[in-house]
Amino acid sequence: MQIHSAITPLRKLLKSVRQEGKSIGLVPTMGNLHAGHMELIKQAKSKTDFLVCSIFVNPLQFGVNEDLGSYPRTLAEDSQKLELENCDCLFAPSVDEIYGATLEAHTLVQVPELTENFCGRSRPGHFDGVATVVLKLFNIVQPDIAFFGLKDYQQFLLIQKFTEDLSLDIELVGVETQREPSGLALSSRNNYLNDEQRQSAAFLYRTLRDSAEQINSGHLDFPALEKAAQLALQAHGLKPDYFSICNARTLRPATAEDRQLVILAAAFIGPTRLIDNIRWQRSD
Ligand code: PAF
Repeated sequence: MQIHSAITPLRKLLKSVRQEGKSIGLVPTMGNLHAGHMELIKQAKSKTDFLVCSIFVNPLQFGVNEDLGSYPRTLAEDSQKLELENCDCLFAPSVDEIYGATLEAHTLVQVPELTENFCGRSRPGHFDGVATVVLKLFNIVQPDIAFFGLKDYQQFLLIQKFTEDLSLDIELVGVETQREPSGLALSSRNNYLNDEQRQSAAFLYRTLRDSAEQINSGHLDFPALEKAAQLALQAHGLKPDYFSICNARTLRPATAEDRQLVILAAAFIGPTRLIDNIRWQRSD
């Protein structure tokens, strides 16, 4: 596996890969790779000829009081895991390489509407940071296909939106959330949880599933379901940030007519904020 931290030699390498007629896959990550990331890597390997995985803890998507400083950085272990999966290239740039001196005054990509609520509301500026870095990675790597985890469903939709709005010639693949046997969605932030918190955290997905089951059995008073779910989360030691039943395409509040639904949820366990979602097509 080739490892690059600078843009110019990476571009040179990718130019020769393209000249050989090979397709390029990109898996953007912030590192601390777990089985969820490795599933992205496996799918990307099977669908493209040359795979680039980027590891970059993007300061632009962290708020002032968030965990940028403590976010787990495990480059040596990550690099070994990527080697084992036959990843072709690791791109691990510094903040300077990506933003130079312009971090504070950098051009931003802003995606309207889809980013207004949920994580966009709770983490002001977060999605501008995500969209900006992902567009930069797209421009640096120019992949044919890019792969993202669907645990960050709002993030996936806004990347789809700007890819379409800005006429980028990149196919996007959303990869299903990987879970622990308890149902807890794999996340680098699970590292912050102790055993007891980990057990409470699993209740987030259980509550999502319970609500989806109630909708499937004809309970369509969505505000009442949301309220009940938030109370259930609180009873299990979680502090809900949001629990919202939405149209899966627009993220607007779901109506009884909507068939494609998503329930988006975020909750704190102690200081750790976890997100999860459940998506399905109503068959009732
Ligand atoms: O989902 C993530 O890990 C990050 O938001 C991403 C897409 C790598 C951008 O920094």
